[in-house]
Amino acid sequence: MFRGRRLRMNPTIRSLVRENRLQAADFIYPVFVVEGKGIKEEIASMPGQYHYSVDCLDPLLDEMKSLGIRACLLFGIPDHKDACGSEAYNENGIIQKAIRYIRSYDPQMYIIADVCMCEYTDHGHCGILDSRGMVKNDETVSYLQRIALSYARAGADMVAPSDMMDGRIGAIRSALDENGFEYVPIMAYSAKYASNFYGPFREAAHSAPGFGDRKSYQMDPANSKEAMREIAADLQEGADAIIIKPALPYLDIMKEASQRFDVPLCAYNVSGEYAMLVAAVQNGWMKPDVIEESLLCMKRAGANMIITYFALYMAKRLKDEKQ
Ligand code: PBG
Repeated sequence: MFRGRRLRMNPTIRSLVRENRLQAADFIYPVFVVEGKGIKEEIASMPGQYHYSVDCLDPLLDEMKSLGIRACLLFGIPDHKDACGSEAYNENGIIQKAIRYIRSYDPQMYIIADVCMCEYTDHGHCGILDSRGMVKNDETVSYLQRIALSYARAGADMVAPSDMMDGRIGAIRSALDENGFEYVPIMAYSAKYASNFYGPFREAAHSAPGFGDRKSYQMDPANSKEAMREIAADLQEGADAIIIKPALPYLDIMKEASQRFDVPLCAYNVSGEYAMLVAAVQNGWMKPDVIEESLLCMKRAGANMIITYFALYMAKRLKDEKQ
């Protein structure tokens, strides 16, 4: 008789046969940077996550280093927004300042810059609008080239375009190559769905669209073949790694992508997934172990790395478990 339980009888054998593991090195921690001085302010929709002004980043960077979290994903919240998101490509914009600061404080920190316009436009959409309020694809792409290049110049290790315009990966790749940044990789948000799970982030990044929604550029949650087409197109255009977003309700997409494409895959465990679990744990409805379980399931589905607001929490737990 098949006795699967033989290999589950004690912690040692369970550990020996374990197929996937979490480690601090899997995590990319999203950091929200604001203008100003002396600011470390909790984000209401994301308990335990903060807005930081650049001068308040040191303790966070120290903690990341001591926990072994070596990569961050930067989001900027500018003071000034306009129709073309000009603060995104300002050499003294919030992200450019943050990149330069982090680079000098912790030269080994791997700095990933999210490339998008929604935090920088006064209308909150991810690109340039036409007179009817539609996002213009090709014109937006030329702005994205400018933004990515500006982040590379400031010292970003990697750029991650999250806008979902067509053709942006190839365009950004050539802009980087033509300017001497041929070794700056692009991690493409290829399968980015028009998801309600981004709600808390939009409050955190002050980036909710002023009107309408993002359905004309982000993907329909009903579709999976479409995600495979998007990934294939981005790889063809030169993406080095691929993000699937959100993570938990979309693990089927992760699994399929990992079976089809031999490239590094990243799960984005988004703000709504974070808020949901934090609320349940805070109310005593679920044990905190649910966090580790969720992150582990992303690796089982095929993720090599995970962008998660739980990075610090999880790395601390992993460290305590070891001791
Ligand atoms: C920018 C962007 C968003 C997120 C990451 N980059 C918001 C959006 O598309 O509306 C969401 C991240 C999260 O929810 O944690 N376009």
